[in-house]
Amino acid sequence: GRVAVMFGGESAERAVSLRSGEAVLNALLRQGVNAYAFDPAGRQLTELVDEKTDRVLIMLHGRGGEDGAMQGALQHLKIPYTGSGVLGSALAMDKIHTKQIWQTLGLSTAKYQIADKSDFEAGSCAAIMMELGNEVMVKPAREGSSIGMARVTSAKQLETAVQDAFKYDNQVLLEQYIDGPEFTVSVLQGRALPSIRMSTPHNFYDYAAKYQDDTTVYHCPSGLSQDREAELAALSLRAFNALSCSGWGRIDVMQAADGTFYLLEANTVPGMTEKSLVPKAAKVAGLSFDELTLEILATSLT
Ligand code: DAL
Ligand code: MG
Repeated sequence: GRVAVMFGGESAERAVSLRSGEAVLNALLRQGVNAYAFDPAGRQLTELVDEKTDRVLIMLHGRGGEDGAMQGALQHLKIPYTGSGVLGSALAMDKIHTKQIWQTLGLSTAKYQIADKSDFEAGSCAAIMMELGNEVMVKPAREGSSIGMARVTSAKQLETAVQDAFKYDNQVLLEQYIDGPEFTVSVLQGRALPSIRMSTPHNFYDYAAKYQDDTTVYHCPSGLSQDREAELAALSLRAFNALSCSGWGRIDVMQAADGTFYLLEANTVPGMTEKSLVPKAAKVAGLSFDELTLEILATSLT
């Protein structure tokens, strides 16, 4: 059958998606898959039908591609697609709803507050800082790749960071900062791949640390004991399933100084660039980049 690899799109993560999509498309072509590139920016989805597309491999990051909208549209066109469905995609895209579900199920996630553009008052910043422990991560509710994020240590910085984050979303998550290290667990067809621990000299694992410079050190295996690795894998699978995610994805986690794991967020279309995390974990699990792309493609059949 004919496979459309969807990448590009119109979200703030377009540049990342272009890199992920190129890598995945090339891997499929190398392996003889009848694949072609489809950038939904400015195109009609009915072209997928005209092109006799049997399946779509979604490599779009961010809103419009990773949030359930595209998944719903493809369902309407009766074209199978990779990864999570409408519900899992929509929930995982939204860091606030994600945390609310995890919290309800007793899965540990850092303390937080919500800033809403319609009623946010700068005067509340001092109280928020106190409540969240005087060091806070500011995150647009529905973004990726650390876009619009900041780590702040004063009420004044908080105010500036929230206003900045409002450029990306009307809702902003204010989260107690957990010192880390940061871990990530890739999920593929119901199993957890080896965790990765990231060390960055940056203030946090930001966009530049992710894609632009070569300062991040990736530890995989992560150095956890066997028991703790198993604990992290089980936690990540529960977190993934709790959001109704399926197929493949990635769960990001902070480990506090006392060893507790705090869930950060879920990604339903994780990056597949040459710097991205899922390919690194797959490699340690014995799966090459090419094999990984075939496994991702196979998630469209379930
Ligand atoms: N949102 C980026 C692509 C990631 O999670 O890898
Ligand atoms: Mg994300």
